[in-house]
Amino acid sequence: MGARFFLFAIVLTVFLGGAHHARSLVADPLERSSTAPRRTEHAPVGKLRGAGSCSSVACHGSAAPTGRSILGNEHTTWATQDKHSNAYLVLFTDRSRAIANALGIDATRSERCLGCHATPARGASRAATFGDGVSCEACHGSAEKWIGPHTEDGWESVSPAVKEQRFGLFATKDLSRRAAVCAGCHVGSPAKEDQIARDVNHDLIAAGHPALRFEFSAYLALIAPHWTEKGRNAQPDFAARAWAVGQVVCAKAALDVLQDRAARSQIKMQSERTPWPELSDYSCFSCHQDLTKTLDHSTEARSRESLTWRNWNLTLIAELAERDPGVARGSIKRDHDALSSLMNSTEPNPEDVSRCADRLAHSLDRWSQRLDADSLDARWIQDVATAISAPRESASGSGWDADAQRYLATVALQQSLRRLVPNERLRSLDRPKLERIRDALKFKVGFESPRD
Ligand code: HEC
Ligand code: HEC
Ligand code: HEC
Ligand code: HEC
Repeated sequence: MGARFFLFAIVLTVFLGGAHHARSLVADPLERSSTAPRRTEHAPVGKLRGAGSCSSVACHGSAAPTGRSILGNEHTTWATQDKHSNAYLVLFTDRSRAIANALGIDATRSERCLGCHATPARGASRAATFGDGVSCEACHGSAEKWIGPHTEDGWESVSPAVKEQRFGLFATKDLSRRAAVCAGCHVGSPAKEDQIARDVNHDLIAAGHPALRFEFSAYLALIAPHWTEKGRNAQPDFAARAWAVGQVVCAKAALDVLQDRAARSQIKMQSERTPWPELSDYSCFSCHQDLTKTLDHSTEARSRESLTWRNWNLTLIAELAERDPGVARGSIKRDHDALSSLMNSTEPNPEDVSRCADRLAHSLDRWSQRLDADSLDARWIQDVATAISAPRESASGSGWDADAQRYLATVALQQSLRRLVPNERLRSLDRPKLERIRDALKFKVGFESPRD
């Protein structure tokens, strides 16, 4: 399957590329003004202005960094180096056509694709911005209310919370907020306002869409950056904090998608009803087995008769909760275990699943905000890294998805450790250890994956 090799490209890039997190330490005046808003207080979606309205040379369209408080060449970087600017054009490729044919839709017009491959917004005028793909306003919020004010004197002293609630400019310096923005597309999200559910389910995957395997810190490091991290985000714990916050935020987003899948499976009208349980919530290897039986990961499947619930985004969440003293780990473990046994039952009841997922999602939401508020110290990072990278004996907690998550976690934690603990001998993680985990992820030559 392309998706797996794709992830490899990512992990390799991150591994070889190392940290690009170490940037300017210039203090940010906005940073001091206030904390970010709670996720429930988001501004309503306003009208889009389109990427063109940001692209003038004096604003964000300079050819090179300008040396102002912002880089000034954001539009140039996005348009020339960031895949997001190509996200709509991708819908015209042969691959997209094949996916769309299998689903009986037109990829370039269907909300089933445009929800993530174009910038979300309200109103018919949105179509005018399709060509921009995933543009500025997808990550920074519809500009209708903030485009004027953000160039005026005094804007710098407005707090991020007010900027978001009153003007609709997302508080993306807050990592949990930032991760939630990405997760809306890279994990998925329930329908809202004028947007149908954003969901890459097994129908899309079987039609040829890459399975989504998002890890916030790795993907963040992969975007050609059009900004410099400032304030707390320029501190050495950044990569580790981005990983930890990303784990919790993405797990929460996945639970929202799960609840939404449960709800949509109950719709009366058959044409709108979706499959339940949704196949992509289960270990791919429990159905897609290697016919030649040369692949270690397929032992995961062969050792079991039935399907195993395996959500990429929830792989490490219980382990992480166990190591965070400030979190209600008892209830997180309890709800996670309960959800897991519901999903692993022969016919999971969608209402029970939904209730349980909702409880867990609430705990995770509170947790992500707390995690983001604290700095992480070297001791904590070492502890988590040691636990996460330890070899697994039992079948639970192992398997390709878990190994891949462990690898990505280890890379992020090591990036912070390298900055926090300069003496290599005092660090719990070394390169050989990382390479061992990566080797465990390789598919044996000749493995018959579903697509090739
Ligand atoms: C939930 C959001 C979401 C939906 C819905 C969605 N996509 Fe995607 N799509 C993505 C993301 C995210 C990626 C990038 C995957 C990655 O790199 O991890 C992607 C990647 C792709 C790729 C591979 C692009 C490349 O550069 O190789 C194609 C093709 C594609 N999508 C087509 C479609 C089509 C056609 C539809 C509608 C049937 C669709 N997508 C619906 C989020 C989505
Ligand atoms: C995929 C998401 C994404 C897209 C698309 C995107 N940005 Fe950003 N942008 C970010 C993130 C993340 C940051 C860093 C957090 C921050 O500074 O708010 C950032 C930072 C910035 C900053 C620096 C803010 C500061 O205070 O230092 C500017 C300016 C900016 N973006 C402008 C743009 C423009 C203009 C576009 C479109 C041409 C764009 N962005 C597209 C995610 C995105
Ligand atoms: C509106 C939906 C949307 C949002 C929001 C979004 N993305 Fe994406 N992202 C996509 C789609 C669709 C693609 C695939 C584009 C393609 O293949 O051309 C993509 C591709 C990417 C890629 C390229 C992967 C590769 O193939 O190399 C990275 C990295 C990425 N996104 C990171 C992020 C991060 C980090 C954020 C949050 C700051 C974010 N994205 C926000 C939809 C989104
Ligand atoms: C419950 C069993 C089951 C699970 C779990 C499952 N699949 Fe499938 N998959 C199938 C079946 C049956 C088909 C063929 C029917 C279809 O196309 O929907 C299929 C088809 C596919 C295809 C298309 C194969 C081809 O040759 O065209 C791909 C790709 C795929 N699955 C990937 C995945 C991935 C990735 C996962 C895990 C996220 C997964 N599947 C989980 C049963 C499953």
